Amino acid sequence: MIEGIIFDLDGVIVDTAKYHFQAWKRMAAELGVNFTEVENEQLKGVSRRGSIDKILNWGGISLSEEEIEKWMRIKNEWYLEYVAGMQPSEILPGADRIIAEAKSLGLKVSLGSASKNSRFILEKVNLIDQFDAIVDGTVVSASKPDPEVFLTGAKQLGLEPSKCLVFEDAVAGVQAANNGNMKVIGVGDSTILAEATLTFPNLENVRLKEDIIDKI
Ligand code: G6P
Ligand code: MG
Repeated sequence: MIEGIIFDLDGVIVDTAKYHFQAWKRMAAELGVNFTEVENEQLKGVSRRGSIDKILNWGGISLSEEEIEKWMRIKNEWYLEYVAGMQPSEILPGADRIIAEAKSLGLKVSLGSASKNSRFILEKVNLIDQFDAIVDGTVVSASKPDPEVFLTGAKQLGLEPSKCLVFEDAVAGVQAANNGNMKVIGVGDSTILAEATLTFPNLENVRLKEDIIDKI
């Protein structure tokens, strides 16, 4: 029986990929590299450091450790400028309703995100008070598909991993949940997220009890 829900942030609760894209593209341009939306897709669920390593690799650029640290800092400053204006209206359809349904069913709710900016974003969209635990890139070190972020979420909720259900939009996130022995709902393309327990293109019309909990 499911007793807790763990949500990824980017791509499940809010669409921040477009803001990450703007900031990475701006950085790539400064370095003389073209960075595309197709490449940005491959950065979903990938940590900030993992992302810059990939962009530099695609662009055939090698930078010192100091330069990498500098560009990560600058990129994040730009990203924070872009997300500073986020509003509750930017919550992806259904995400806030599913969180509310989980709470009304007596389930505990945690965040499980690679982002170091998750609290800032949850505050902007007015959801921060809905979470019993927030586990993000400021708390864990291993990147998805390592299950650390979700196992830490389960622990903070006081639940066995097998009693937790994860919502994820990234392949690495689905794998992380599986690696943690958790059921996982893939949000996105079912062929890409084929390893998920169930997938939905989005959460707009999905009912937590009838469409998910009663079926897994
Ligand atoms: C999420 C996003 C990634 C992002 C990562 C780190 O996993 O899907 O695109 O790189 O978080 O985000 P941060 O806000 O710490 O740079
Ligand atoms: Mg995501």
